[in-house]
Amino acid sequence: MRIAIGADHAGFSMKEDLKGYIEGLGHFAEDVGTFSGEKSVDYPDWCMKACEKITSGKSDCGILICGTGIGMSIAANKVNGIYAALCKDEFTARVSREHNGSNVLALGARTTEPALARNIAKAWLEANPEGGRHLVRRQKVADMEDRAGGADAETGSRGRIVVLEHPLIQHKLSIVRDKNTSVKDFRDLVQEISGLMVYEIFRNLPLEEIDVQTPVCSTKGFSLAGKKLAVVPVLRAGLGMVEGILRLIPNAKVGHIGLYRDPDTLLPVDYYCKLPNDIGERDVFVVDPMLATGGSAAAAISHIKRLGGLRISLVSLIAAPEGVEKVASEHPEVDIFAAALDSRLNEHGYIVPGLGDAGDRLFGTK
Ligand code: RB5
Repeated sequence: MRIAIGADHAGFSMKEDLKGYIEGLGHFAEDVGTFSGEKSVDYPDWCMKACEKITSGKSDCGILICGTGIGMSIAANKVNGIYAALCKDEFTARVSREHNGSNVLALGARTTEPALARNIAKAWLEANPEGGRHLVRRQKVADMEDRAGGADAETGSRGRIVVLEHPLIQHKLSIVRDKNTSVKDFRDLVQEISGLMVYEIFRNLPLEEIDVQTPVCSTKGFSLAGKKLAVVPVLRAGLGMVEGILRLIPNAKVGHIGLYRDPDTLLPVDYYCKLPNDIGERDVFVVDPMLATGGSAAAAISHIKRLGGLRISLVSLIAAPEGVEKVASEHPEVDIFAAALDSRLNEHGYIVPGLGDAGDRLFGTK
């Protein structure tokens, strides 16, 4: 197995010892640091490096060591897809694999003797997750993780409401909210924010290893493992998000869907819809900058489903609680990604504080 191994300064010596030991057992130890026991460092930094190896599929599992093992296990369990067990004996280590499916072993260098740590690591590495009732229970744990949210579009979890809080997104969003921002700047920034949102949403896209020849030598690199995507803007404001997304994912196909509100029934009616033929095989991202009442977004998603769409997510710059509620109640399996969740709708159906009418501000029609 490929094992990501990381430690802070307190766990450094134990990491060095265990690295050799697990390689002796026939595994490959991927050392993510820290690389000295002299300098005091922060355990979450090294924890994250190891967890990223695991969630990206570059490592099969991980071993994390700090003074007590507590900091490392708490930090690791914040990461979607990581199940860390802090173990102080061989029995717990084995059962944490067999029953709980732990994929990270946390150890305390100041609380566990080096010889015992080796035995714990061996017991943990030799054990495999069991099926049956344990599988059912692990699935329930995974469901809890899904409900708690997180910007991980690749865990297979659905129905999350994720607010993307990256500082660059929040900074640019404040500029587009400003009523004095020009049409040109507004348009450019909506594209930029959409790109940044997609960058966050896709942080765990699956990769495959490839051979690369550099001018100096041959090496291993990574390539995206061929996921099929479709971006579907809801006309007209959704159009303002498409270019920013395509800049990052140029091979995505683009569908279009246009809806108007029937003046008699007040229900959304689609007046235009053109989707990629293979929509059912694609991860579909419906884009609409403002999720206000949720009527159009929910109707667009229903229409895409009728035409065969299966895995659908909604990406909006700003969402109102009313819109989230509407989409979540009609399409509970749809992930909703937003840069901000605002407080409410006003009597005219505008999001408060919002940014006004995104379509008018994008196209200068007001
Ligand atoms: C570092 O002194 C220590 O606090 C850390 O290694 C760890 O025990 C935290 O949980």
